[in-house]
Amino acid sequence: MGALKIRPVSNTDCRLLWEWVNEPQVRAFAFRSEAVSWEEHLDWFHKKLADPDCSIFILTDESGVSMGQVRFDMESEKSTEIAVSISTEQRGCGYGTEAIRLACEQLRRQRPITEVIAYIKPDNLPSIRAFQKAGFADRGKKIVRGQEAVWMTWKVSEVMEIILAALREVKEQMGKKGTFEISPQTRLYGRGSDLDSLGLVQLVIEVEERVGARYGVPITLTDEKALSQENSPFRTVESLTDYVTGFLLEGEASRVS
Ligand SMILES: CC(C)(COP(=O)(O)OP(=O)(O)OC[C@H]1O[C@@H](n2cnc3c(N)ncnc32)[C@H](O)[C@@H]1OP(=O)(O)O)[C@@H](O)C(=O)NCCC(=O)NCCS
Repeated sequence: MGALKIRPVSNTDCRLLWEWVNEPQVRAFAFRSEAVSWEEHLDWFHKKLADPDCSIFILTDESGVSMGQVRFDMESEKSTEIAVSISTEQRGCGYGTEAIRLACEQLRRQRPITEVIAYIKPDNLPSIRAFQKAGFADRGKKIVRGQEAVWMTWKVSEVMEIILAALREVKEQMGKKGTFEISPQTRLYGRGSDLDSLGLVQLVIEVEERVGARYGVPITLTDEKALSQENSPFRTVESLTDYVTGFLLEGEASRVS
């Protein structure tokens, strides 16, 4: 699979999205199965483009050929519902999974979401599988628009939220030097890192303070254990999240035992 990209939808995608939405399998697995007329689509499309609670992304290959779409409709400030489709001839090659992953990450950079929800018809096995592979967890069944649906969610952990908030603070303090993007993949330490050593020290202090205040347990991120780990916990936001989560869980286990 070549490098895939996502871009925001634009006015010129209107017809393509209409063709995709009326593709038989897309209609069959939608909660409303009737075909969508051009007039209805035009009206819907322009409303969605102007709606601040809706984000639509187009998945493209390296050369910019459109391969699918992902739409998010915000349910609240932190929670959003996702819908996805891949063009018929491209299905079954992993693109759906990648579209879901890339779009969730992109949305998270733009909004403070903590939860993405997918409702899928129970017989839509490729979709259930694609969401599973993209890291969604099965939450059971729900009735959606009068029909049974598999309910799946992707959650941003609270610890990661804390680390991302701390990083936002550090980035602000860095002023003009803080030009990096904030995401789970932001590199904190080592070659190609986005933080300088002062930034890293500031981040460590911020995270220690915020985690200590939230969980009521003192945490030292620069102790021997963290520094002696073969794979430093400071590589990325994601690895630091894993380390802090492990620390909190270990503490919980020792309090219980
Ligand atoms: C759902 C959809 C977006 C998935 O995209 P995709 O590019 O085909 O997804 P992927 O290739 O990443 O993953 C599909 C997985 O389902 C599996 N799959 C395909 N058909 C299957 C079937 N009949 N039974 C079980 N698994 C199946 C594939 O093997 C693959 O899993 P694997 O990698 O473990 O082998 C795409 O099929 C689509 O556009 N469908 C129509 C619209 C739709 O249903 N949208 C979702 C509404 S919730």
